[in-house]
Parts: sequence; structure tokens; C-alpha cells
Amino acid sequence: MADEKVTISRRTFLAGTGLALGGLLGCATAMTYQATVVDGGISLTRSELQRLGGTDKPIVVKADDLPDPILLIPIGENNFRAVSGRCTHLGCHVRPSGNFLVCPCHGSTFDLEGQVVRGPAQSPLEIYPVKAKETEIEIIIF
Ligand code: FES
Repeated sequence: MADEKVTISRRTFLAGTGLALGGLLGCATAMTYQATVVDGGISLTRSELQRLGGTDKPIVVKADDLPDPILLIPIGENNFRAVSGRCTHLGCHVRPSGNFLVCPCHGSTFDLEGQVVRGPAQSPLEIYPVKAKETEIEIIIF
């Protein structure tokens, strides 16, 4: 029995690779909440947070008055951590990816506490105080 040879063009191979990579990146996409900054903070109801899946995984919080997104990360039963999405290397926006926050520009990687796991970034991400109330979550910005 003769071996069969399968020929695949370079273009087809690259297209398939691109689709696979796109699929992987798509998995890392987090839900986004468009907020308004009021009195130096952002409030998000627990029901809205639940609707976005933010009780199980990080969500991205954006506001017109904020130059950079904030990542709201669930910790423990009812608590949250708010981490700046601005990479401390050169300012690109990090994205949640599994248990890490990854910068698409040069690959800096941070843990969910904002600490550097992999450079070139040298400093941790900025952390914002969070007040977890009974019906809403408040991120204190300034
Ligand atoms: S800007 Fe994030 S790694 Fe360079």
C-alpha cells in the first residue's frame, strides 16, 4: 500500500492558523460594561454584574471620562478587585486571559492581583479601592 501525500498550500495553512489563533483570542474576550463616573466612582449593580458574568470571571469596565479601562475581578464569595487595564510598560491595554492579564503589545503578563509575572513591564498594575455593598459594587477612582 502506497503512502498518500497530502499537499497544502502555504496560503491555506496560514489561513487555517489564523482562524485557530483568532479562536483562541476570542476565548479571552471579556464582557465590557460601559459606565459613567459619578462623584469620582463607578457603581455597578450586582444584577448587572451577574448578567455580564462578572461574578465568575473578570469584566472590563470602561467610561468616557476614563482614559483606560478597569478590570473588575471577582475574588472570594462576594468581593472584587479593580485593576487598571493600563499596562505599566508603555500603556497598552491588558486583557484577561485565564488566570492572567496579558498585554497584547509586548507580552507583559500580570496575575489577577496586578503583579508582574512576565516583563517587559516592571511595575504592578494600579489597584483601585472597591466597596462591595449589598446591591452594588462601587469602584473608587478618585
Ligand atoms: S505596553 Fe504592555 S508590554 Fe509593552
